[in-house]
Amino acid sequence: MADTGTMTATPLTPAAPRPAPAAPTSPAPPQAGRGSYWITTFGCQMNKADSERMAGILESMGYREAPAELEADLVLYNTCTIRDNAEQKVYSYLGRQAQRKRANPHLTLVVAGCVAQQEGESLLRRVPELDLVMGPQHANRLDVLLAQVEQGQQVVATEEHHILEDITTARRDSTICGWVNVIYGCNERCTYCVVPSVRGQEQSRLPEAIRLEMEGLAAQGFKEITLLGQNIDAYGRDLPGITPEGRRSHTLTDLLQFVHDVEGIERIRFATSHPRYFTERLIDACADLPKVCEHFHVPFQSGDDAVLKAMARGYTVDRYRRIVERIRERMPDASISADVIVAFPGETDAQYRRTLDLIDELGFDAVNTAAYSPRPNTPAADWPGQLSEEVKVERLRELNVLVERKAKERSARYAGRIEQILVEGPNPKDPTQVMGRTRTNRLSFFPAAKAAGGVWRAGDLVDVRIEEVRAFSLSGTALA
Ligand code: SAH
Ligand code: SF4
Ligand code: F3S
Repeated sequence: MADTGTMTATPLTPAAPRPAPAAPTSPAPPQAGRGSYWITTFGCQMNKADSERMAGILESMGYREAPAELEADLVLYNTCTIRDNAEQKVYSYLGRQAQRKRANPHLTLVVAGCVAQQEGESLLRRVPELDLVMGPQHANRLDVLLAQVEQGQQVVATEEHHILEDITTARRDSTICGWVNVIYGCNERCTYCVVPSVRGQEQSRLPEAIRLEMEGLAAQGFKEITLLGQNIDAYGRDLPGITPEGRRSHTLTDLLQFVHDVEGIERIRFATSHPRYFTERLIDACADLPKVCEHFHVPFQSGDDAVLKAMARGYTVDRYRRIVERIRERMPDASISADVIVAFPGETDAQYRRTLDLIDELGFDAVNTAAYSPRPNTPAADWPGQLSEEVKVERLRELNVLVERKAKERSARYAGRIEQILVEGPNPKDPTQVMGRTRTNRLSFFPAAKAAGGVWRAGDLVDVRIEEVRAFSLSGTALA
């Protein structure tokens, strides 16, 4: 087999004896029984989308999903390292599996995703029981890498890799809402962030490939698509072409226009937006394209200009404010969510209060909050002015109280209104109800039974009168 550059590492401590490749129990490939798999996914939507593709690859290789993690023949952790606690969680999960592997050498242990990329070979030193360590750019190559494992090797695949067009069939968790990657990687250099070093350079998929994937999903009955990228506004800047007016041929706005009429897809979302590149042209397109939902996830990270500068975010609070104003001018009911970091190195109390003030002023529908966590290979990790755990905990606590209060205020506007809900499935906490989302992305619940008999099902678009509002969810009754 041609070596594609995958490095085979020798463990520094003796690894568990390698079992011979399992003999297929059924002679009919590719469904030849290879045993069962279990995937645990940490981190963001990008990782979830990668996990769905890796599950698809495993199933096409003949694996089936295990009923429980501790019964699986292959365990794959798709990992996240955005903050230290995310990384530590992976090690505690791994410890349990390593113990299992010592008793059962036939178990295959895989670490994929961002911790795999960050740690590479040193992960094998830490957990010699591992069979495969693979970075996110290698997700589509899981079958090739496992073939090397089956030959008795311990494999580390973390080199920069051009992501091949996604020809795999993902095994998706939802049958209604699908994720479609449009750009991999990130070329920004926010001083706190580990993503560029673990996800690599930006690589945009071609519009035709994205549309084709959406058409395939529509044919399977999917109704909602979320286009994904760490910095989705960068979409297309690595693709060639200039329009006669002198702008890039491929932008997120052009992409939305290009995929908008895929028949059967009722709703289109996208994430994550970067305030530095978010354009008026994009806002106008969202307002004009009926399937694009009125929800924008635009992280602002800090409400203080000096902190934004230290973070190398490339915009000011005023610019951010203008984006929100422009969205609300064109789509008055739009919901806006964001990410925020508190206790960045050197953040003073006054600077932190400006973040609170901005949230208070703009009134977000939801905010993902985090205390700054120093990450490997990021500049801010080595800066003076690192804040104590107590300051982090206290700022985060106060921030979360405010975020919830503002979310509640934003939810209040739905009371008594009729909202269109796309049903995603039963409410896991109450099977007499179904759950779905408004176009603005508020989680909503209503009785599954229809007034005229029968039940609402996943994929139905239902007009629901909202009767109860909570900070992050709504309840009501279907009109029909
Ligand atoms: N690409 C997106 C976000 C990617 S990471 C953007 O540019 O906004 C998701 C979120 O994790 C970030 O928005 C940030 O709020 C948070 N985050 C990233 N690095 C962090 C760190 N070192 N400490 C705490 N939070 C962090
Ligand atoms: Fe990280 Fe910044 Fe890239 Fe977002 S834009 S992934 S915060 S480096
Ligand atoms: Fe985590 Fe990697 Fe996503 S670090 S947030 S899983 S890009």
